[in-house]
Amino acid sequence: MEKTFAIIKPDAVSKGYTGEIISRIEKKGFKISAMKKIKMDKKTAESFYAVHKEKPFFEALTTFMSSGPAVVMVLEKENAIAEWRELMGATNPEDAEENTLRKDFGKNIDNNAVHGSDAPETADIETRFFFADIECV
Ligand code: CMP
Repeated sequence: MEKTFAIIKPDAVSKGYTGEIISRIEKKGFKISAMKKIKMDKKTAESFYAVHKEKPFFEALTTFMSSGPAVVMVLEKENAIAEWRELMGATNPEDAEENTLRKDFGKNIDNNAVHGSDAPETADIETRFFFADIECV
C-alpha cells in the first residue's frame, strides 16, 4: 500500500466542507491512517512550503495557510499519490474536472481546498513534518 500526505486547507475547513471531503475520501477507498486539526503559524507555513520560497505566490500562500485551522491527514491506498491527485483535480479549480474536490470546493488557485504530495519522497517529508510514527496507524 502506498501512502500520501493530504491537507484540507483553511478555506474548506472554514466553510464547513471537512466532513463532506472526508466522506468522499473514504468512498474512494482510501484508508485514513492519520488525521488531526492544526493551525499553522506563519513561520510553520513558510517552513512547510519552503520548496516554493522563490515563487511569486509564496507570500499569499503562506499567509493563507496560516489564516485558520486546517486538517492534515495521511491517506493509504494502492497508488495513493496519483489517486489522491486525481480526486483533488487540477491546482486551479477553474481547470479541474467535474467531480473533483477542487472543482466542487475550491474557489481559485490560492483557495483551492486541498493539498496533496507529488511524489513518495515528498509524501514522507510532509508526513514527518506533522506526524510522529506513533500517530500513523
Ligand atoms: P498546493 O498543492 O498546496 O501547493 C502549493 C500551492 O500554491 C498550490 O496548492 C496553490 O494553492 C498555490 N499556488 C498559487 N499560485 C500557484 C501557481 N501559479 N502554481 C502552483 N501553485 C500555486
